[in-house]
Amino acid sequence: MASVHDFIHSAYTQTVQSGSFTWSAPSNIALVKYWGKKENQIPANPSVSFTLSNCKTITTLGFKEKQKSDKFSFDFLFEGQPKESFRPKIEKFFERVEEYLPFLKDYDFTISTQNTFPHSSGIASSASGMAALAINLMSLERLLNPEMTDDHFYKKTSFLARLGSGSACRSIQGSVVVWGEHADIEGSSDLFGVEFPEAVHDVFKTYQDTILLVDKGEKQVSSTIGHDLMHGHPYAERRFAQAHENLATLKKALIEGDTDAFIKITESEALTLHAMMMTSQPYFILMKPNTLQIINAIWKFRQETQLPVCFTLDAGANVHVLYPENVSVEILQFITSELLGYCQNSQYICDKIGTGAQAL
Ligand code: DP6
Repeated sequence: MASVHDFIHSAYTQTVQSGSFTWSAPSNIALVKYWGKKENQIPANPSVSFTLSNCKTITTLGFKEKQKSDKFSFDFLFEGQPKESFRPKIEKFFERVEEYLPFLKDYDFTISTQNTFPHSSGIASSASGMAALAINLMSLERLLNPEMTDDHFYKKTSFLARLGSGSACRSIQGSVVVWGEHADIEGSSDLFGVEFPEAVHDVFKTYQDTILLVDKGEKQVSSTIGHDLMHGHPYAERRFAQAHENLATLKKALIEGDTDAFIKITESEALTLHAMMMTSQPYFILMKPNTLQIINAIWKFRQETQLPVCFTLDAGANVHVLYPENVSVEILQFITSELLGYCQNSQYICDKIGTGAQAL
């Protein structure tokens, strides 16, 4: 079984003075949700997600050797401008991963990052952002240790990304990614994401995710606080067990191409995530009236047309509409005529299942 010791490196064989890398890393949308965690970013239950394709972060990491000191040295640019408010997050991430990347205090870094999705769209950038940063740092480690295998490179990238933001570990490699130990998923681990180890049915290889921007405002409650509220939550234990059951059922649906079973699990997971928020102490509601309007319209449309369209939600009011590509003409017609009125400035993003991070 994998252990944190697999990711501690003792001695590098090479030295590198300066250079830069650029990687893009996508966002991902969970089907079985991660909500609740233990110490050190260990998830309270396993989760599975579709990797997205268009919503991504592009990050360039410049590095230049310096005299080792007891401080991290980095400049952070967001869309070309220094962004002070992001520094504490990076600082904290560096502290968490220093044990695994002992070269971090040997370099001056410039981290320059941009997102392909609109600023403040309410779409979480922590998954794609932390994934892009982690894979750049791993590229530097691979220069210092050229013997590293690809398998180790991707596993450790996911391991580091997890320490930045849990869901980020599912944004590195593969189209369908499982994070968290599950009895029926071979190779699954609490420490990193793994590609769904079985052949996914063709129908799920073309899945589309149209993201309806219902509320683009700042999140009312950060995920970190939300996760914390699962400690001492009255339904926590039952919920964590249910996630295991749902992942087992979803596994079967993904292999068999059973869109009905997929819809039942995916929508129930989304509503359960929000039910956990509504039943925590303090309690809160992240859905907006238009979120419910959209959900009801999708249910009515599905009932009338029998087309395999469903929704999922993140920790926010936006709605992800999921469907296979072969029905996209009908679904996009439905979205534009009946759902865009519920979106802020009629805004939406067309995305689809992707493959993971890419070197640019
Ligand atoms: C609702 O990964 O953002 O999107 O580990 O604290 O950074 P941290 O949390 P984060 O939580 C994501 C929660 C979710 C469900 C999911 O993506 O599985």
